[in-house]
Amino acid sequence: MVLGVSGGIAAYKASELLRLLTESGHDVTVVPTQAALQFVGQATWEALSGKPVAHDVWSNVPSVQHVRLGQQADLVVVAPTTADLMAKLAHGRADDLLTATLLTATCPVVLAPAMHTEMWQHPATVANVATLRERGVRVLDPASGRLTGVDTGPGRLPEAAALFGVCQAILAAGSRSGRDLVGKRILISGGGTREPLDPVRYLGNRSSGRQAWALAATAVARGADVTLVAANVDLPDPAGVNVHRVSSSHELDEQMTAELNNADVVVMAAAVADFEPTNVADQKIKKTDDGSSPSLQLQRTPDVLSNLGSLRTGAAPLLVGFAAETVAADDDPRGRLIELAQGKARRKGADFIVGNSVDAGHGFESSDNAVVIVTPDAVVAEVPLASKEAISHELWDVVITALSKRSDPN
Ligand code: CTP
Repeated sequence: MVLGVSGGIAAYKASELLRLLTESGHDVTVVPTQAALQFVGQATWEALSGKPVAHDVWSNVPSVQHVRLGQQADLVVVAPTTADLMAKLAHGRADDLLTATLLTATCPVVLAPAMHTEMWQHPATVANVATLRERGVRVLDPASGRLTGVDTGPGRLPEAAALFGVCQAILAAGSRSGRDLVGKRILISGGGTREPLDPVRYLGNRSSGRQAWALAATAVARGADVTLVAANVDLPDPAGVNVHRVSSSHELDEQMTAELNNADVVVMAAAVADFEPTNVADQKIKKTDDGSSPSLQLQRTPDVLSNLGSLRTGAAPLLVGFAAETVAADDDPRGRLIELAQGKARRKGADFIVGNSVDAGHGFESSDNAVVIVTPDAVVAEVPLASKEAISHELWDVVITALSKRSDPN
């Protein structure tokens, strides 16, 4: 991989991204611009990547670095990307090692812009971003928040972990074309809801939100506009994704319903509690002197997927649910998983259910999983033990086929 760094204060965050990339086994060559070296010096990049670092085309001339780096990379990611660098790329300029590398790269290229809001919103930058996206470059939307000085607004570099997620998602896409979700609006829920019991306690579950994060990162990598409704997820916002944070099943239901009509595809990957306490105590529930234990009375929560199924207009948007099932190993676990998943698709009015077995140490909190993707009456894909990114790509393949059948039934 090539990690390009251009001259913005967020360059320091790229050192954390570099560490995540090298620690997960990637071979990374860092190519800073001269301006980037004003923010983070060459020694830092060399120490963290374990490789010499150059910014001009006059070092290491016999290896023709300015051509080889781009030609040989599997992925080029530039974080941060300045407005100036995007202006150069939009015009095909190549006056240093990074721009020459970008002009020779045939692999996926990801740009993570970071700049002041005014620069990001300037018509020149907007036009350059549009040109680059049209050419297939993945230009991520910057995050919103605190910028240098007193400014706040869109323009922040997403967190290193979020950028790392996008890199992993693109690499996991393998030979897929990569831009087949452009123009598609995808709404994803993830994490696990918390149902309040008193001001300090709740009923919750162990969902980490990692499957939803992988879905979001892979959809962004394939060009979709992604909105994520996240219930209690302890992960930084995925890069380039519009994130709404919620807590209870009611909040999740409300937010998903509000977003429903802005989506072409909805994926319910959140683990929604099925029950909530009937009464929420307004004071902390205390122990009593007689040693007795309180009884909890529970009531059903909204079934968000079923609600979305009944609220949608006709068959749009496409509706996908997840089902985590415990199936006994002794009696046809695959058949039983398919049967349970199809039953859920029918009951909840979903077009697809991604069914997985949560025993055998997979599913919740783990990064690997094995799944079947079913419609109410057919099995459309089976994915053996694979990463959550790989499963996400399989699901997007299924979704794209379904959407194209809808727009052209022949
Ligand atoms: N789901 C939902 N609202 C709920 C419960 C579940 O929207 N109150 C969604 C989940 O996000 C998932 C799908 O329904 O996409 C299946 O979730 P699961 O927990 O397997 O289904 P349940 O209806 O809770 O079935 P079970 O009785 O097996 O727990």
